[in-house]
Amino acid sequence: MIEFDPFKKIGEEWALFGVSAEGESNAMTVSWGEAGVLWNKPIFTVFIRPTRYTYGLSEKTDLATLSFFPQEYKKTLSYFGRVSGRDENKLEKLSHRTENGILTFDSAKLTLVGKKLYYTDIDPRNFVDPTLESNYDNDYHRVYVYEIIDVKE
Ligand SMILES: Cc1cc2nc3c(=O)[nH]c(=O)nc-3n(C[C@H](O)[C@H](O)[C@H](O)COP(=O)(O)O)c2cc1C
Repeated sequence: MIEFDPFKKIGEEWALFGVSAEGESNAMTVSWGEAGVLWNKPIFTVFIRPTRYTYGLSEKTDLATLSFFPQEYKKTLSYFGRVSGRDENKLEKLSHRTENGILTFDSAKLTLVGKKLYYTDIDPRNFVDPTLESNYDNDYHRVYVYEIIDVKE
């Protein structure tokens, strides 16, 4: 597999969660996520609030990418995390391609290609630590677990 520190790569450097469905593509910045092993498969997990435009697209396809960029792209990632694909065609800002339903970015230094295995919704009744509720305004994340089916470096 790959050398991958999720605390650094996802938590500090951030990533783009990209999907393409029914002829439309979009991507959004994520900094909460996981990478590891589940059901004997290499996986990544993302947490997407239902209010995100990307959420609607990710419901329509089982494929997605998690893309990592050189640090000089941080401003661009900030833009992808501030502006919604509902309001602007964000993808105009980054050279990209869609092949077989998989959205990739030419400037990404690492791309994890995922195939959806499982989803569930964060249930506040299960918050053991009640302070977690402060992260939400009734917009509990949908948790998507993707099997990593390809790695592009
Ligand atoms: C650093 C950073 C990390 C983010 N992480 C997440 C995340 O893990 N999950 C989420 O739902 N939104 C996250 N967001 C917010 C979305 O990226 C943001 O709402 C984005 O505009 C949604 O785009 P969309 O409406 O085109 O899908 C993050 C934003 C930033 C700036």
